[in-house]
Amino acid sequence: MRRWLTLLAAFLTAATMGVLAAPGAAHADANVVGGTRAAQGEFPFMVRLSMGCGGALYSPNLVLTAAHCVGRTGANSSITATLGVVDLNSSSRITRKSNYVYRAPGYTGSGKDWALIRLSSPVNGVATLPITTTTAYDSGTFTIAGWGAATEGGSQQRYLLKATVPFVSDATCNSRSMYNGEIIATDEICAGYTSGGVDTCQGDSGGPMFRRNASDAWVQVGIVSWGDGCARPNKPGVYTQVSYFASSIAAAATSLGG
Ligand code: ARG
Repeated sequence: MRRWLTLLAAFLTAATMGVLAAPGAAHADANVVGGTRAAQGEFPFMVRLSMGCGGALYSPNLVLTAAHCVGRTGANSSITATLGVVDLNSSSRITRKSNYVYRAPGYTGSGKDWALIRLSSPVNGVATLPITTTTAYDSGTFTIAGWGAATEGGSQQRYLLKATVPFVSDATCNSRSMYNGEIIATDEICAGYTSGGVDTCQGDSGGPMFRRNASDAWVQVGIVSWGDGCARPNKPGVYTQVSYFASSIAAAATSLGG
């Protein structure tokens, strides 16, 4: 079931790839489902990827995204990363081509949903998003952001929008009324309202879920991975649990020269 959902999500992402809402289109103030428009510079680390996914700037030349957004590990110059703007059509946008993709070892479509994309040249002067290295931030209220669909089955967005969602424990998320055991407790962390209404959606995949740390700085705790539809009651968003993979991600980043 969860594999099927991932494949469906990938299909829907592909189906809407590159389709941006026209200026003044409906839902101008709603995206991510149940969100509001982010201010320019509010989340400088947000990255839009040309295959129709999100990402976060991990270092000047590396973008952290989801494994299900990329192909196999190896040289890859087919991806364009756009960042530095909330409006993807802005002439101020920064773009970079990829030159390498590193997909989580052992990824087969279930769990381990993380990947690093190396950019052909570093982006300087843009704040990066550190990943959490402990489980201390795997609870509380999280911020989500992206250019994905504003409603289940809806179109991709031109403007970055944002929302906040509460942590949902593995026990609750795996309960019969929610995902009935489909959540991989080590690899995945759930977030959303029991009543639904606020969530990431197709095209937000790979983007970060983040919160403030003890020093009041943003820290990444999740990567948008999957869900049953978007913002449905009893179907929280499912995110890669970054704390569990933090040392693997850091080691991969070092090996990539980032
Ligand atoms: N897998 C989707 C994508 O490729 C993201 C789905 C997130 N869904 C959710 N209900 N939180 O964009």
